[in-house]
Amino acid sequence: MKLWGGRFTKETNQLVHNFNESLSFDQKFYKQDILGSIAHVTMLEKQEIITSDEKDKIIDGLKSILDDLESGKLEITTEHEDIHSFVEANLIERVGDAGKKLHTGRSRNDQVALDMKLYTRDEIITLNDLLKELLVTIHNIMCENVTTYIPGFTHLQKAQPTTVAHHFGAYFEMFRRDRSRLRDIYDRMNYCPLGSGALAGTTYPLDREYTAKLLNFDGPTLNSMDSVSDRDYLIELLSALSTIMMHLSRFCEEIIIWNSNEYRFVEIDDSYSTGSSIMPQKKNPDIAELIRGKTGRVYGALISLLTTMKGIPLAYNKDMQEDKELTFDAIDTVKGCISLFTGMISTMQFRKENMEASAKNGFTNATDAADYLVNHGVPFRDAHGIIGQLVLLCIEKDIALDDLPLDEYKKICDVFEEDIYEAISMKTCVEKRNTIGAPGEIAMRSVLAINEKYLEES
Ligand code: ARG
Repeated sequence: MKLWGGRFTKETNQLVHNFNESLSFDQKFYKQDILGSIAHVTMLEKQEIITSDEKDKIIDGLKSILDDLESGKLEITTEHEDIHSFVEANLIERVGDAGKKLHTGRSRNDQVALDMKLYTRDEIITLNDLLKELLVTIHNIMCENVTTYIPGFTHLQKAQPTTVAHHFGAYFEMFRRDRSRLRDIYDRMNYCPLGSGALAGTTYPLDREYTAKLLNFDGPTLNSMDSVSDRDYLIELLSALSTIMMHLSRFCEEIIIWNSNEYRFVEIDDSYSTGSSIMPQKKNPDIAELIRGKTGRVYGALISLLTTMKGIPLAYNKDMQEDKELTFDAIDTVKGCISLFTGMISTMQFRKENMEASAKNGFTNATDAADYLVNHGVPFRDAHGIIGQLVLLCIEKDIALDDLPLDEYKKICDVFEEDIYEAISMKTCVEKRNTIGAPGEIAMRSVLAINEKYLEES
């Protein structure tokens, strides 16, 4: 059924119908469409715009459509233009004339704006829950690895030793910020557009506050032109999703490196790895690679929608229909990636011996050796130069600073004593770093307590 056949004298060209229709994808929010309609007619009756008998018939009809769609008894068929037309046509078939009053005081423009907001709201809650599961997993790994030493890198060159808890803690912060971004978006978007009509409100005495309340919004939107043409919240969401993917992708990149034969810091579980069709020895980190790869697709959705929106005059224009496939795809992609990533890291083995051996070589304790001299009264810049010379000597001898005999130390600077070895041991290097945010056990345990409280409370 068409909602607008009256002023037309010709049938729609089939290609035009195919190009114009959105039912093939907006059926994703059939439930939100029906719940929005139930709230709308509840308000229409309260305002005496329809009778209570009409309201009951419409609501019963809408509920039976919902039940039939959920049980599979009713199938969505493609001759309809969009989910709104589909539901309305079905309703009229089921309840007759009362059904023709459903759309009183409403346009598809405010209807679709509502449906998309309701859908997005639900998905934000799911995404928030998935991120929480990921944070719990990261937190557990941190708790188990407070003294698992690993090299910390800058420029992908070994820099200073740190711990797995500290390294994973960096990602804990990122994903916590991601969650709070989702919360901000939710709060900002949570105003109800229904009642804005096509663009200029309606002449019916709608109670928009009431509809907003029925649908758990913080209130009605305050400008009807903006209401039907605002897609900012989707752009914000796509931006937040892109940031989540960027974080996941960085983490995947590290896991791919750590899982390589050269590093062997971790081993991804067989159940999260794949093989090669030709090389029997291969066990590939495809899941981590795919998550990294799918990041591009989510960024693409953000750039697409920004570009779609940039030249649209007020108020509604059909261009905006393009928001749906992009957003749906991005949301589904991110949900899948978070779940898979969580499964991958919770089953991954940490090869602690390899991490520690790697943290020990590569002069990751050179800064601490310089600090030793500073603590004995040598100015930092001089200490830096002295340790530089010692590092060069060790490179020539192919040994670590820990293995250089004391007399060699003394030849370059006589401040060194036997306690230098204790001062530059990996344990000391990490454990002495106890300013908040650093990897030392005392600092780390206080952060873990903060994180634990956050996970309990949110
Ligand atoms: N399928 C449309 C969309 O997604 C619904 C709104 C149609 N409104 C209209 N005036 N054609 O944007």
